[in-house]
Amino acid sequence: MARTPLMAGNWKMNLDHLEAAHLVQSLAWTLKDQGHDYSAVEVAVIPPFTDIRTVQSLVDADSLPIKYGAQDVSIHDEGAYTGEISTGMLTKLGCTFVIVGHSERRQYHGETNELVGQKAKKVLDAGMTPIMCCGEALEIRKAGTHVQFVLGQIDAMLAGLSAAEVAKSVIAYEPIWAIGTGEVATPQDAQEVCGAIRKRVGELFDASTAQAVRIQYGGSVKSKNVREIMAQPDVDGALVGGASLKADEFAKIVTYQK
Ligand code: 13P
Repeated sequence: MARTPLMAGNWKMNLDHLEAAHLVQSLAWTLKDQGHDYSAVEVAVIPPFTDIRTVQSLVDADSLPIKYGAQDVSIHDEGAYTGEISTGMLTKLGCTFVIVGHSERRQYHGETNELVGQKAKKVLDAGMTPIMCCGEALEIRKAGTHVQFVLGQIDAMLAGLSAAEVAKSVIAYEPIWAIGTGEVATPQDAQEVCGAIRKRVGELFDASTAQAVRIQYGGSVKSKNVREIMAQPDVDGALVGGASLKADEFAKIVTYQK
């Protein structure tokens, strides 16, 4: 079965709830104008926690086919964990996706592969889809050990998951040196690692799991470069940062086939 591409906008710490409403509305209108087929390319926005309720209200009120989710989640269900948000709170808000292990969380909050794997499991247990991030820093890329490094992240993140859980998950390969730098990986760079990840999933689980799991590329994706990246056989979508903050630009990324 062919994998449905997923274009997800990771807003990071940008846009308050009023700006969020504006962006989601503009995106929905733009995509409607262009006759976008959401069953051919899935679309998701991943706003800050404080915007999710607003996005939910809009999506519900207008029955928008746009999905949404959160940028992180706690491994705890409830209690004395100041500042954390549980999976239960996110399912109540109708979230479909949760990003886990973004390189910015790893860098600024010390998140390890093991913790990211635990978060992915919590997300799956709650009936949502984790977008599990991996990717190497520039020094590792320069040393030429990036494939080995990313596969190490994959092994550790997937260790506690079943084949069925991995099959419905999303993995996002985001080389750190390409995030927010304007330095996009070449389509061949993206394919090299995304292909290696799929092969590894096949080795860790089985061929049908490898065929089913969606693997995104992220890092300076723009309307100008998305088409070549999406042409790679093992790239099933993009996790877009800066370019997802403008409705027109993100809509162009979503409709890359046109
Ligand atoms: P940019 O698209 O801004 O490079 O960010 C990529 C990213 O980190 C998405 O999660």
